[in-house]
Amino acid sequence: MVSMKQRSFLTLKDFSGEEIRFLISLAADLKAAKRGGYEQKRLKGRNLALIFEKASTRTRSGFEVAAFDQGAHVSYIGPHDSQLGHKETVKDTARVLGRMYDGIEFRGFGHDEVEQLAAHAGVPVWNGLTDQYHPTQVIADFLTMREYTHKHLSDIQLCFLGDAGNNVAHSLMVGAAKVGMGIRLAAPQSCWPDPKELAYCAAVAEATGGTISVTEKLEEALCGCDFVYTDVWVSMGEPDAVWEERLRVLKPYRVNRQAMEMTENRHAKFMHCLPAFHNNETEVGRRIHEKFGLSEMEVSDKVFESEASVVFDQAENRMHTIKALLVATLGQ
Ligand code: CP
Ligand code: NVA
Repeated sequence: MVSMKQRSFLTLKDFSGEEIRFLISLAADLKAAKRGGYEQKRLKGRNLALIFEKASTRTRSGFEVAAFDQGAHVSYIGPHDSQLGHKETVKDTARVLGRMYDGIEFRGFGHDEVEQLAAHAGVPVWNGLTDQYHPTQVIADFLTMREYTHKHLSDIQLCFLGDAGNNVAHSLMVGAAKVGMGIRLAAPQSCWPDPKELAYCAAVAEATGGTISVTEKLEEALCGCDFVYTDVWVSMGEPDAVWEERLRVLKPYRVNRQAMEMTENRHAKFMHCLPAFHNNETEVGRRIHEKFGLSEMEVSDKVFESEASVVFDQAENRMHTIKALLVATLGQ
């Protein structure tokens, strides 16, 4: 019997493989219930604070719609909406919000902030992305994988190309290790994962039957994989000065047709947490195009728009999996 009541979710390290699988199944049930029109409201009367120190489309909407569907109320607290950080510490804010709200979502910079919030709020705190981790993303990604293959999570081979030292790559590694999945990361050495994260994941994988490898060689990582995943080359909060070097070293790791062919698996799917730079139709995309002449970055427009792309299923599944997290930790 899995019980996650009143627990915080700061990283996938907080949950066992069994608990991660439970959340994915619960999300699949909740998704079917919403589609079938028989969803039960299990969060009636709950009040949630959603703190966003960085911008968000999917995570914010996921938390809001999940809460509304389940009968809860939310307060959105944006980067300039509260005293947090300007006139009040994380610890004091935690003790105030914990008196009013039943749970708190937090998206911020240093991971220590979400840890402090959880230590002092007295209510569950859910990490909506920090510089180190993006755990709710990975629950959605695993549900999406389950929808696109008959394989058990432990039989899947996942390949990550690009900035393997960022929050999404770290969380995919932890999640994969916990459920016994095979994960291969291909990146230039300057974008390899934090060695401490790698050591932690290798130790967990040894116990769960998972495998983890990091290489500079694309073909080594891609051959035989089921899913090819990438993320932006420069993450929120990183200085503009890193763009030039990142573009230079990561260009060979763009997910394009050749990369998809290197899987030697015609059923291989393309994944991205989004937002993605697959054309120059955004403000940042245009700036990069003008300055460096690139019109697509981590993924080619062809792959992004191809049949193999499951990115909008991932985006939708953010909401169903966040709902599962809310119900599992706070539901009646
Ligand atoms: N994938 C993701 O977290 O998207 P947002 O930044 O839009 O929330
Ligand atoms: N690595 C990206 C993920 C966005 C969802 C970032 O932190 O900006």
